[in-house]
Amino acid sequence: MAGTKAVITAGPTREAIDPVRFITNRSSGKQGYAVATALRDLGADVTLISGPVALPAPAGVTRVEVETAEQMLAATLQSAAGADLLVAAAAVADYRMTDVAAHKIKKHSDTLSLALQRNPDILATVRAAQPGLFMVGFAAETERLAEHARDKLARKHLNLIAANQVGAGLAFDVDTNALQVFWADGQQAIAQGSKQAVAQQLAELIAHHYLKATPAA
Ligand code: CTP
Repeated sequence: MAGTKAVITAGPTREAIDPVRFITNRSSGKQGYAVATALRDLGADVTLISGPVALPAPAGVTRVEVETAEQMLAATLQSAAGADLLVAAAAVADYRMTDVAAHKIKKHSDTLSLALQRNPDILATVRAAQPGLFMVGFAAETERLAEHARDKLARKHLNLIAANQVGAGLAFDVDTNALQVFWADGQQAIAQGSKQAVAQQLAELIAHHYLKATPAA
């Protein structure tokens, strides 16, 4: 993958509720960081767009740290503009506050409703800007994994999608993972293993498909 510019998104995003609270999710960033490291090991020039995580930047990888989905979108659009490959491993918050409270919200009543609005879809926005970019998405599913993953592959115009089964003790915030990878006319399982081992196999599969789709690369 020498000479290939790869952009990886990883980790959760964090959406402020008020000055002291936020909405986020259980993503640790470990799988995305491991994919960034594995693509670096294959010779790619890697930029990692990272939400807030407790992980050091992998050596030799350019890390851009962001907090919100909107910041992740802006950083990804900018980095992807000159790139060959995008792997979206981030667990982007689907919604953010319609209006972030300027002051700490006080507990005046027994119930509290927050008005939320949809965040932009990073993959969809990048795809619209760069129709020719080789794009890999992730899908976290609790049921009907193949059906949902294939639907996302088509809907988001992805080249590959790596799907994992999530739920209690699976994938999120643990050190092991297993993936089912789908593309237009095929699929491959990556067996349960450390996130590093899974990432190496995924990086090899990405490289194989990327080089096949980009004969001049
Ligand atoms: N993604 C993105 N921008 C978003 C949300 C998700 O780029 N605002 C990317 C993720 O990084 C991942 C893929 O899209 O690669 C996941 O697709 P999505 O449809 O959001 O998956 P889920 O969150 O699993 O969707 P849902 O539960 O709504 O089916």
